[in-house]
Amino acid sequence: MTLPYNWDIPLDRLTSVATDAALQAGAVLRESARTGFRIEHKQIINLVTDADHQAEQRVIDVIHDAFPTHPVLAEERGLTEQLPSRYKWVIDPLDGTTNFAHGFPAYCVSIGVECDGRGIIGVVYDPTRDELFTAQLGHGAQLNGVPISVSTTDHLDHALLVTGFAYDIRETPNNNLNHFARFALKVQGLRRTGTAALDLCYVAAGRFDGFWEVKLNPWDVAAGVVILREAGGKVTDFAGHNHSIYGQELVASNGPLHQAMLDVLREDVTP
Ligand code: IPD
Ligand code: CA
Ligand code: CA
Repeated sequence: MTLPYNWDIPLDRLTSVATDAALQAGAVLRESARTGFRIEHKQIINLVTDADHQAEQRVIDVIHDAFPTHPVLAEERGLTEQLPSRYKWVIDPLDGTTNFAHGFPAYCVSIGVECDGRGIIGVVYDPTRDELFTAQLGHGAQLNGVPISVSTTDHLDHALLVTGFAYDIRETPNNNLNHFARFALKVQGLRRTGTAALDLCYVAAGRFDGFWEVKLNPWDVAAGVVILREAGGKVTDFAGHNHSIYGQELVASNGPLHQAMLDVLREDVTP
């Protein structure tokens, strides 16, 4: 396969720095889970802990030690001020903060790298299971170094799907409950894990067959969409058009289920 870009930094070098950052931040999270952490409320149901901030600092330090001029878009801090660069790192230091705060072991560190606006590297680390998902554009996806691929499920009756809800669920009718209710009656099973980055990785690994959500942020999905695509999956918006990590809608699937998922998402809500 011929890649349309010339990377001036080898993909292996970017992957190695992203992996180092994810493992170090994962260790910070493991230690905080063991020793305790402070919780603050951003809004009534939207939390942040000091583990989020400490893990974020660790990720940024590792990136900037290796690439001092690269901009980093990080959930808790926003975009770091840097010189213009072809590269942008998009990170969520703790995806699944509500789970983490409750001691529910489903959370991860998510690190994506864009070059010229295109996702080229995805690294997601689950410190509770010691599972490291990695992918490079054009080189497939791996779990702990072993290649992964999406499932072959081709009917919603046999599908295990996953979704999530944004923190404004109480404030708007565009809160995904309509889609959730429709899918619940059409699939074998439906889950809400509370960590979108792992949801994408689990579709990539064939553990889930599909995932959709509205109003995700770029840091939730930058790494996971690279991993999903490299594992043979498909990701679009609800109209079936190109997905942008800066957009509002995401449908991710194994491929065979994609059209059926789009059809459910487009059904009118029946009273
Ligand atoms: C959240 C998780 C959750 C998704 C929310 C996200 P956070 O991220 O990914 O699964 O449903 O929309 O905000 O706040 O735990 O980093
Ligand atoms: Ca997140
Ligand atoms: Ca987060």
